[in-house]
Amino acid sequence: MKNRLFFCLMALLLSAGMNAEVLRLETPNTQLVLDATEGQELRVLYFGDKSATLADIEAAGETGSAALPVFGDIDMIHLPALQVQHADGDLSLNLRVAKVESLTSNSDSGLTSNICVTLTDKLQPVTVRVFYKACHDVDIIETWTEIEHQEKKPIVLKRFDSGYLHLGEGEQVWLTHLHGDWAAEAVVTNEPLTRGVKIIRNTDGARNAHLDAPEVMLSLDGAPEENSGRVLGAALCWSGNFEIRLNVPNNQGVHLYAGIDPQSSEYVLAPKQVFKTPSLAFTYSTEGMGGVSRAFHRWARTCGMLHNGNAVRDVLLNSWEGIYFDITQQRIIDMMDDIAAFGGELFVMDDGWFGGKYPRNNDSSSLGDWVVDTRKLPGGLKALTEAARERHIRFGIWIEPEAVNTVSELYEQHPDWALQVKGRDLKLGRGGTQLVLDMTNPKVQNFVFNLVDNLLTDYPEIAYIKWDANASIQNYGHLTAQRSNSPKDGLTSNLYIDYHLGLLKTLERIRAKYPNVVIQNCASGGGRANYGLMPYFDEFWVSDNNDALQRVFIQWGTSYFFPSNAMAQHIGGSPYQMTNRVVPIKFRCDVAMSGRLGIELQPKHMTDEERLQCTTALTDYKVLRNIIQLGNLYRLVSPYSSLQATTVAEQQVASLMYVTDDRSEAVLFAYSLSNFMKQAPRRIRLAGLDPNRTYTIEEKNIRVQYNHDKGAWDKGEPCSLHGKQFTGAYLMNVGLLIPLSTEYTQDYPSRIFHLK
Ligand code: DGJ
Repeated sequence: MKNRLFFCLMALLLSAGMNAEVLRLETPNTQLVLDATEGQELRVLYFGDKSATLADIEAAGETGSAALPVFGDIDMIHLPALQVQHADGDLSLNLRVAKVESLTSNSDSGLTSNICVTLTDKLQPVTVRVFYKACHDVDIIETWTEIEHQEKKPIVLKRFDSGYLHLGEGEQVWLTHLHGDWAAEAVVTNEPLTRGVKIIRNTDGARNAHLDAPEVMLSLDGAPEENSGRVLGAALCWSGNFEIRLNVPNNQGVHLYAGIDPQSSEYVLAPKQVFKTPSLAFTYSTEGMGGVSRAFHRWARTCGMLHNGNAVRDVLLNSWEGIYFDITQQRIIDMMDDIAAFGGELFVMDDGWFGGKYPRNNDSSSLGDWVVDTRKLPGGLKALTEAARERHIRFGIWIEPEAVNTVSELYEQHPDWALQVKGRDLKLGRGGTQLVLDMTNPKVQNFVFNLVDNLLTDYPEIAYIKWDANASIQNYGHLTAQRSNSPKDGLTSNLYIDYHLGLLKTLERIRAKYPNVVIQNCASGGGRANYGLMPYFDEFWVSDNNDALQRVFIQWGTSYFFPSNAMAQHIGGSPYQMTNRVVPIKFRCDVAMSGRLGIELQPKHMTDEERLQCTTALTDYKVLRNIIQLGNLYRLVSPYSSLQATTVAEQQVASLMYVTDDRSEAVLFAYSLSNFMKQAPRRIRLAGLDPNRTYTIEEKNIRVQYNHDKGAWDKGEPCSLHGKQFTGAYLMNVGLLIPLSTEYTQDYPSRIFHLK
């Protein structure tokens, strides 16, 4: 069977190693080789491509490195991945292999191979299980640990990384990570690793992807390349505070550690309680950063790391940037008319629809009071779901379940449900009144579950929920200490972690009952784009910044780890409110079309040109979306190269493409980022195609033009490449001169081509 060929787990004895137990976990193109000899330290002998045989590894005489460096066993140049303080104050561990289990299992997320190595300490009754998991046909391995003990009193987990990886080579290694801010997410940062320790972390408490994101790539052959070179990629699958450390000691390669940030979070673990770390997912590619991205995208879609990962998403209109809090029944129904007329399939009513005693007219009140504001919506949600049905579109709704405003009936009734430090002034967030609810409290978990459950029970027509989260954990404490699985002392230091465990537990309940509702993960834009939460969500809002030019950059960085059907990309207004940039509708459409397409503006304010271009975009997108949302991504020309330009004589462009698995079809996007007269056109070389196949080029979302005879906007003329045929070899080796001339036409030209 093909499965078996690609995918096997082997336990064998190395010939010379006598009783050494060597385990190999394979993915289609990579392998992880472990030495799990009983009574010895668990060691990683090899991780990389499949060119190394076990005989090679043995002949090289490499002893590898500790799979999990623990304090008490490591030498001074290493950092610990695990450190506990035992009940008697001892800080050391000497973990040795006690048991090895390996199995292949078939679960909801497909066929997986798992290794579990149980480690025990010689002196103290502490057990650590180290797991490795690979799912069928995907080049990603996950690792995590479970820690438990039978000491008489709680122990303290002082450091509890999910995983550790050692790269033997250190001189040429470059780090790529995503750094940013609200409305400026996923800025790609490439830097050579130098000696010392580099730390990437996020301490927001509730959201972890705005500032520094929990994913990194390490390019082993110098400065990163998009489609060549050896690259290791890693993502910590956690939604809370994290810390990724890169230690580069003298002549000892690069050591990568990733886990929950222990700062203010040392975990107090009761006897027999099991602490499971989130998983660290990692891959190795010889096809550059693009290969790492494609592995993560495939893993997200096919291994349950993105809810309904292989589903194609609807085209929608979201009300937020069109009308903000100014919701009325008529405005909402008018917007439904508009999205239906454009050919869209879903309308989402954003913030502002709720509030009883306190109407939600701005961001300073009402979170927690999830009752329809009938002053704005006299027919309630029923009138809206019926209006959607009549227009043959689906209906979605916004909520922010984990938050409360001090100006709300919920806060009046349950002030103790908000995170707060007894006796200290409240630190208030958005709107000057926002607090975060205590997700460790089972009553709050029920409240959040019931909010979703009631909405979906009362209005089964709701097909989509936008789940927002707009506050950090600023008040580090809780009044109700009702955690079921924690000891009763030292609780506060568990808060950052238990918050997310409570959130995950609630999401699990929701998903168990409502597997088919599409749920968007939003956190002031992309603040929660992480693989800790994505298994429960179908997509995420990439950024609150909808300026199409900056979106080219934000979407570029986000695509390093996340697949396009998870990336919500909306056509925004122009001039755009945040940057005041005027961007033509064609470019705005083309940028949004490279992911899950939506619209985020007031259609009433659109010109005839904008309306026709949007209708064209939606019509063409529906033809292309299977390829765009489920195809393999090849990033061709980075928008960042435009920032390094030393001349205006050459066009500055960004370009990417998606290719179907069988390489029979592709969609190519090309955007011009600079506009100067007489620029030399840029040749773009494609990737991922079948060199022996002939592709016909068809231009899509052609720019509309004014028809003077008709006195109206009309469909436009395709460019000179339309209808031409090229071999895959030509397209990849020679490339295309894509007509992106700006002379006398329009700023920000862009093109989309369907290759088939
Ligand atoms: C922040 C989100 O990112 C926006 O899209 C919008 O939903 C607002 N919150 C609503 O308050």
